[in-house]
Amino acid sequence: MNHFHYQNGELFAEDVAIARIAREVGTPFYCYSTATLQRHYTVFAEALKAAGLDATICFAAKANPNMAVIRTFAQLGAGADVVSEGELRQALAAGVPAARIVFSGVGKTRHELEFAVAKGIFQINVESEPELEMLSEIAAARGQVMPIAIRVNPDVDAGTHAKITTGKKENKFGIEWTRAREVYARAKALPGVEPVAIACHIGSQLTELTPFREAFLRVRDLVAMLRADGIDIRRLDLGGGLGVPYDDETPPEPAAYAEVIKATLGDLGCRFVFEPGRLLVGNAGILVSRIIRVKEGSTRTFLIVDAAMNDLARPSLYDAYHSIFPVAEPKAGAALAEVDVVGPVCETGDTFAKQRRLPPMRTDDLLAFGTAGAYGAAMSSTYNTRPLIPEVLVKGGDYAVIRVRPSYEDMRSLESLPGWLNDE
Ligand code: LLP
Repeated sequence: MNHFHYQNGELFAEDVAIARIAREVGTPFYCYSTATLQRHYTVFAEALKAAGLDATICFAAKANPNMAVIRTFAQLGAGADVVSEGELRQALAAGVPAARIVFSGVGKTRHELEFAVAKGIFQINVESEPELEMLSEIAAARGQVMPIAIRVNPDVDAGTHAKITTGKKENKFGIEWTRAREVYARAKALPGVEPVAIACHIGSQLTELTPFREAFLRVRDLVAMLRADGIDIRRLDLGGGLGVPYDDETPPEPAAYAEVIKATLGDLGCRFVFEPGRLLVGNAGILVSRIIRVKEGSTRTFLIVDAAMNDLARPSLYDAYHSIFPVAEPKAGAALAEVDVVGPVCETGDTFAKQRRLPPMRTDDLLAFGTAGAYGAAMSSTYNTRPLIPEVLVKGGDYAVIRVRPSYEDMRSLESLPGWLNDE
């Protein structure tokens, strides 16, 4: 459920007309709804609570690292899951206490580990033995003991897009679960680190519970083995990955997901950490774009819009589906025609949708792309020297620009001409 709806013939985000934001901010832009962010967090948190699971929800900042979005969740009690120094700084700046930050990622640098240890964050999820040795050395040198999880790779197929599957042994993530026992033993012997948790994340946009169940059963076996080895596993970080509807998928409800956890891991006396990203922000955001031109080809009609693959990369990267709907509500019974919705970037891959059935659209009309709150703005670039687009957050009848569109001068200010190219 989200708070984007038609009212008096036009699209609103909560109580603000999208056309008004488009007039005042210019297109294209991302628009997020506070009520939807809050609702998604609350539904997830309540489902875990109802299943009797004692949990910390660490929003996966990679899905939408805007400070205002992170703070909206932090105010509800969320922590953050970060994968870089940049995200860690972003979470701290947004007001997430260090004691609620988990640091994941397969390639943390020495500098990033030092920074995380200095901040005294909640947990570092270690993904390899060399990382374990490095972290131990860093923390011990500072006289600290870092609580860690080893991220185990349970070798289960998440049944999702190949580019976002992470839990197979041929993927680069985590430590193969069959080797986990030795690595925990090593961690226990090392100074500066205390293995207190197991972390497991098998992929993103999962639409079935079975892969979760399989992975969690492996985690369960591991808890028993590690405890028998004298390692005090107190918490389980089960990652993120629960899917959202983009089209006609029917991903499991949070309550059903929570029941699987209760059934597989609920009796172990562990606390839980979750790292949901897409689930919290996906349907809380839209991308709004204006039609630059309608181009009639001999076999196709192209709607050329002012957003492009650099603004929303998912269709070109993963062939991802995003709903597309007019900002002016179509008349009931309006005839639909098949069109290709494309951006202006000089690549055929800059195509948002092929043969999509839409009501008649004209130059200057506004379109919205649905489910764009996760991995939308987060993955944008300036390809074709297109400025990053604004992000807007709506709350009730108010809205605020939470990231501005840089000017061309701002963009160029990061560059400089070397002396030998300077004519002056
Ligand atoms: N935890 C870890 C360790 C992760 O690697 C990820 C996502 C998450 C949590 C959050 O997963 P979520 O709940 O959002 O599924 N750019 C891709 C998605 C990449 C996901 C990467 N890892 C896309 O646009 O579909």
